[in-house]
Amino acid sequence: MSMSTARTYPLNAWYVIARSVEVGDELLARKVAGEHLVLYRTSAGEPVALADRCSHRQFPLSQGQRVGDEIQCSYHGLRFDSCGTCTWVPGQDRIPSRANVPNRPLVERGAWIWVWMGDPAHPDHDRLPATPWFTDPEWASVDGLEPLAAHYGLLIDNLLDLSHETFLHAGFIGTPEVAETPINTSTSTTTSGRPIVHVSRHMSGVDCPPFYAESTGLQSPIDRWQDIDYHAPGYYQLNVRVAPEGSEPDADGSDPEAAHVVVLYAITPVDEHNTLDFWAVCRNFGVGNAETDAFLTSMNRTVVLQDVAALDLLHRRLVEARTDGTDTGEVSFKIDTGGLAARRVLADLTSADVA
Ligand SMILES: [Fe+2]
Repeated sequence: MSMSTARTYPLNAWYVIARSVEVGDELLARKVAGEHLVLYRTSAGEPVALADRCSHRQFPLSQGQRVGDEIQCSYHGLRFDSCGTCTWVPGQDRIPSRANVPNRPLVERGAWIWVWMGDPAHPDHDRLPATPWFTDPEWASVDGLEPLAAHYGLLIDNLLDLSHETFLHAGFIGTPEVAETPINTSTSTTTSGRPIVHVSRHMSGVDCPPFYAESTGLQSPIDRWQDIDYHAPGYYQLNVRVAPEGSEPDADGSDPEAAHVVVLYAITPVDEHNTLDFWAVCRNFGVGNAETDAFLTSMNRTVVLQDVAALDLLHRRLVEARTDGTDTGEVSFKIDTGGLAARRVLADLTSADVA
């Protein structure tokens, strides 16, 4: 990662800007990829994101009021519709089009609302990740958001090297075998040519951590698979299979003895020092079970906050070291092959970015 003044995240990308449940009648201020935006939902239920800056004197529109489906700036009263078109200014009837504010393309899918931060006229829908678990009736999901006072690259590093589970998340999802089991790393591209980094770790006959023991009822020993697909820049999917030791998926792909969990993260750079950490835990068992929902929500939030505390501290130390000129650099190991592949992909995407 870099802390120089140059932008370190791509703009030609979809990022999750909000949980679906966060966006309603009230104005919600959010900064994504260096840009201040204001969100709300129209009376027809459509989420809207406009530049959070009045065209007149740049006052934040998020401080204003809803007037029907429009926003009225609380400084001089200018009004903007959900396309960003200025519909009213004080003291004159004719409004120049340069008074309009930009509108950002949004797509709402399940628990998440995505924003396109490239050219607003040309959102690339082929790049939008699929998240079918949010709406598949055979799956249940819980989700949340934690803000991180750290560069988004630190969260990518964290998520691509799950050996940290053993130490940072001991007693929750970490057991000794995670750190002891080697990984396989590879890269591929989607049909639309987008890079994916894969990291997998398959553990056999290992302890079932509390996270899975209490949610699935499985008892040690288990087989535990972690298969990561990281879609740069902002989407991460961890496919987890936990099953009684020795149980294998059937040739037709069915896997009745196993429990499957898909842990999703949407990693949204706010700026060079802040990140939005959206998480979701999707499962194909206990669907409709409110206790399992509550357990996994509380458990995963605890785990996420363990990462947040560590990454916030790490970010402060890295900034201090770079400011003071005392940075001693890093040493990388086999566990870092996924994280290093992700850094290369992100550097390529950012340098090729024309937005
Ligand atoms: Fe973690």
